[in-house]
Amino acid sequence: KRPAGAPDRELAHPVKKVGVIGAGLMASQFALLFARRLRVPVLITDLDQSRVDKGIDYIYGEVDKMQEKGRLSRDDANQIKALVSGTTDKSLYADCDWVIEAVFEELGVKQQVFAEIEPIISETAILATNTSSLSVEEIGANLANPERLVGFHFFNPVAVMPLIEVVKVETTSDSTLATAMAVAKKLGKSAVITADRPGFVVNRLLAKVMGEAARALDEGTPMPVVERALAPIGLPMGPFELIDLVGWKVAAHVQDTMVAAFPERFYASPNLHALAEIAEPLTKTKLGKVEDLSKAGKKAVKL
Ligand code: 3HC
Repeated sequence: KRPAGAPDRELAHPVKKVGVIGAGLMASQFALLFARRLRVPVLITDLDQSRVDKGIDYIYGEVDKMQEKGRLSRDDANQIKALVSGTTDKSLYADCDWVIEAVFEELGVKQQVFAEIEPIISETAILATNTSSLSVEEIGANLANPERLVGFHFFNPVAVMPLIEVVKVETTSDSTLATAMAVAKKLGKSAVITADRPGFVVNRLLAKVMGEAARALDEGTPMPVVERALAPIGLPMGPFELIDLVGWKVAAHVQDTMVAAFPERFYASPNLHALAEIAEPLTKTKLGKVEDLSKAGKKAVKL
């Protein structure tokens, strides 16, 4: 059955080469998914070679883990690794038919990236953005061909979260939208088409949960208590563990975007912002260590 608002799937273009702009954790996670599920070459770029290499190392490490768990045969693992390449030379995007950006969540940065890429890619290539809460339309405001623009929002951890928010803007052509839906399906995800509004659907709700958990912290309830108090209500993980998963800076930034868009409905927590400055390097690989985070937070912020 065709999802609500989806155009005829016959309009979808084939995707034979994928470009991923940005080699951070989220970008690396979905670059791997593209290579694994679409089995097409995936080219990753970033500002410098060390960032690119870090992304490629992450992907190779994940492929090795999947092979060790018996999820991938050795041939499959080798094939996927061979499909992924990294460079700082964006001219190599020329033959990509699907390019997706996951660079820093700042409008000007994303606009600049698209301005740089559009003249390189073909007339029909699609430009997708993985923005979590910025306006897709504004990101593509300076495109010569805004029909190629679509939002394509993944969730952490990309390998297991089943959803993609596909964001249609006024200019998005039916063939772009149909291609986005077809790509999501090939990636093994459910896609929903959302309006281009801050936070789309999912981050609006998550920003509420994270914001109110952070408000409880600001009001003096220690982090592990907030985490434990919410455990029995059936969330897959506590709000601070979730913040840790998405990244403190990303979470604080989503919060800021929601506050800017709807000041009367969202809350900017001073503790969340202070922790974003110090928590990331402490905890990135230590999910669930909320006691450690709590101590770190108390050092940084006088409650
Ligand atoms: N990368 C790859 N695979 C991962 C992973 C990761 N980071 N984390 C977990 N997994 C896999 C595990 O390998 C395991 O796979 P297997 O069953 O095939 O071995 C499977 O996921 C389940 O993992 P666990 O048994 O260790 O853990 P849980 O059952 O507790 O589930 C979870 C982990 C799926 C992450 C679950 O806790 C969850 O759903 N949490 C909520 C996540 C969420 O809400 N994400 C949205 C964040 S918002 C966002 O990303 C938007 C952005 O714009 C901010």
